[in-house]
Amino acid sequence: MSSQAPNIHQLLEEVEEASKNLPPDVFQDDAARKRLQEAAARLSGALESPIDGVRRLIFQVGPQTYTPTPVTTALTVPSMADYVRHFAYEALPIYADLPQYMEKHGYKVPNNPAHAPFCEKFGSIQWEYFKDHPERGQSFNTFMQGQHQGRTCWLDFYPAEERLFAEVAKEDSAVLLVDVGGGRGHDLLELANRKGTGHGRLILQDLPEVVADAPELNVVESMGYDFFTPQPVKGAKAYYFRRIFHDWDTESCQKILRNQLPAMEKGYSKLVFNDILVPETNAPFFVAGMDVAMMITLAGMERTRTQWSELLESEGLQLVDVWQAKGGVEAVIEAVLKD
Ligand SMILES: C[S@@+](CC[C@H](N)C(=O)[O-])C[C@H]1O[C@@H](n2cnc3c(N)ncnc32)[C@H](O)[C@@H]1O
Repeated sequence: MSSQAPNIHQLLEEVEEASKNLPPDVFQDDAARKRLQEAAARLSGALESPIDGVRRLIFQVGPQTYTPTPVTTALTVPSMADYVRHFAYEALPIYADLPQYMEKHGYKVPNNPAHAPFCEKFGSIQWEYFKDHPERGQSFNTFMQGQHQGRTCWLDFYPAEERLFAEVAKEDSAVLLVDVGGGRGHDLLELANRKGTGHGRLILQDLPEVVADAPELNVVESMGYDFFTPQPVKGAKAYYFRRIFHDWDTESCQKILRNQLPAMEKGYSKLVFNDILVPETNAPFFVAGMDVAMMITLAGMERTRTQWSELLESEGLQLVDVWQAKGGVEAVIEAVLKD
């Protein structure tokens, strides 16, 4: 191809010719094949007109007759629709202004939710904003409720029977697991569905307005609780945090931990974190993207094992071990009070 931009007819001929005469060794060099595939996808995207975009969402099958595509079918699932709403209403406006935000703040990563792009854009931190705009908060809760569907469940790679069930005290009042910041209680329900009840009490904690938005959960007790205040449930076998610590900067995480420690029984209680684990090198694109998403929302971050260990050590805790699904990015991190 000449160094001058080809005209459309010349390009058409060249692309048609190339598509008919792929090099015979195209499947021998996988890196080159992928680059070629990506270049073709970029070309296809660059050529898309606005109406082509609409056609990908609905598809005409006859006069005045339309059928949904897989994308629009997925959007009928409430949690998917609310994911798109959350992304469109809260995330996209922040991403759009991120270059200006970074320039204004000297390209420094914020270390306090009150200085995060979300707060700068909407005037309060995300959880206060949701309290003041309940329909947006409920939409976020629906997104979180369905967000873990289709993903590997922590119970598939963390040996809960051996690590929690076998060790929980036998009294009726014993608490097996407190899901701190558990949203609508979906993880506790999944635990009860998979493992049955009768292993100890299951307690859901979240902000009062979130717990009030949760459906009636027969097998789960619910309570409004702010994790920046002392943990009221004493001596549980496990205090479980899914996707909580990645929301927060180090200082806020330390405050949350400090509020749990007095409730823990030494030698018995555990903290169990279910979060994304960043590999020490070569973080995959999704993990890096989540790290940026947490930074813009609440000045939070995804952490490596070393960063988890340092955070826990800083509050007198010991990282016991980390379990991770093969090929997955989520991990379960267990910690106990140091001897
Ligand atoms: C990213 S969501 C995770 C929800 C749930 N654990 C899950 O994985 O689906 C964070 C949760 O933290 C809750 N949260 C935020 N601030 C809180 C606070 N100060 N005390 C208790 N919960 C809080 C939010 O309401 C929300 O449900």
